Amino acid sequence: MSPDVPRGLAGVVVTDTELGDVRGREGFYHYRQYSAVELARTRTFEDVWHLMHHGTLPDAAARAEFTARTAAVRAAPPEVLAALPAVARATAAAGPLAGLRTALSLAGAVAGFAPLYDLTPERRADDALAACALVPTLVTALHRLGQGLEPVAPRADLPHAANYLYMLTGEEPDPARARAIEQYLMSTIDHGFNSSTFTARVIASTGADLAACLTGAIGALSGPLHGGAPSRALDTLEAIGTPDRIDAWLRERVLAGERLMGFGHRVYRTEDPRSRLLKEVARGFGGPLVDFAVAVEERAEAILAELKPGRELHINVEFFAGVVMELCGLPRTMFTPTFAVARVVGWSANILEQAADSKIIRPAARYVGPPPPVPVPAA
Ligand code: ACO
Repeated sequence: MSPDVPRGLAGVVVTDTELGDVRGREGFYHYRQYSAVELARTRTFEDVWHLMHHGTLPDAAARAEFTARTAAVRAAPPEVLAALPAVARATAAAGPLAGLRTALSLAGAVAGFAPLYDLTPERRADDALAACALVPTLVTALHRLGQGLEPVAPRADLPHAANYLYMLTGEEPDPARARAIEQYLMSTIDHGFNSSTFTARVIASTGADLAACLTGAIGALSGPLHGGAPSRALDTLEAIGTPDRIDAWLRERVLAGERLMGFGHRVYRTEDPRSRLLKEVARGFGGPLVDFAVAVEERAEAILAELKPGRELHINVEFFAGVVMELCGLPRTMFTPTFAVARVVGWSANILEQAADSKIIRPAARYVGPPPPVPVPAA
């Protein structure tokens, strides 16, 4: 008899990791031994990327070397670039995340990504770095093609986050926006054994290639219960419209059994620390959207506590992530792809860690259908 586990594998520990963890009751998460929020406040995206992939925060020389290495592999290979217009057309309705999934799969084939267990750890790490550097190029090119615009080639002289905004708009971003997006990206690189990370590790445990692991992770991220909510949280703000409607709107939705987007979390039983950071970032910009978002957050927390007592529902990362991305001029269709730009670094760190273990992840399910064997009816 196999041991039973809770629905949704809630709280089940399935592996050891050195990459980080989430402490839901404390409202704390960390990348390796450092507070992720502190890293996002004080470091660069490249620093945290180096930490996740190589285990240490870089000193000045290592930072310069790593930054140059990542910038050198940003451009899409010609075969991939040539296919992107067709990918953008075919995924126009599904959006840039579906386009990314398709383009990354192609890029993996073009790069000749081999099964993980056939590669040396050094080669796996090089492939992972290249994939992380390429993702912003692919999502921005797909977005622009979808708008009838030409893709903008990456610039090696800009940091990762600033280059991302540059490729999106064709203009060098102002430093405040570049820093805000960099902080968002750093804060969402990794977050315990979330669904997309788990998916990536399950695929990695089979020894499949890096592109297979990453495209599976993107598929998991695309669901609204995981990464697909930040634009919906903003849609909620728009649907409410004015401060006098906040209470009635929220109550009606919760009483109708609907979920408020940007609230609730599988692990956090208190405020999501990423949300606290992004609220600070949003407040740095100020303005009516930020004031309104803060007012909705306060009322939603109170109404959820009253109408869903004991569920401990609080704001999650997606609520203020949407506000920050809106303030930085990102189109809403790019919110979840921007999440992928960050999370690909965490997924690939997890894939590298998983690939060092050769045990396939293969759980079991309890069969609850009609007792077998039932004779097969004659055809
Ligand atoms: N609004 C209203 N009620 C909610 C919400 C919400 N956002 N979230 C959970 N609940 C309620 C459920 O209806 C349920 O109520 P019940 O006990 O009366 O049936 C109870 O709280 C527990 O809900 P579960 O679905 O069991 O919680 P779970 O931990 O499985 O779900 C999740 C977590 C998926 C994030 C959920 O809170 C949700 O759907 N939130 C809205 C979508 C969202 O913001 N997603 C982004 C998550 S952050 C991220 O992935 C990066």
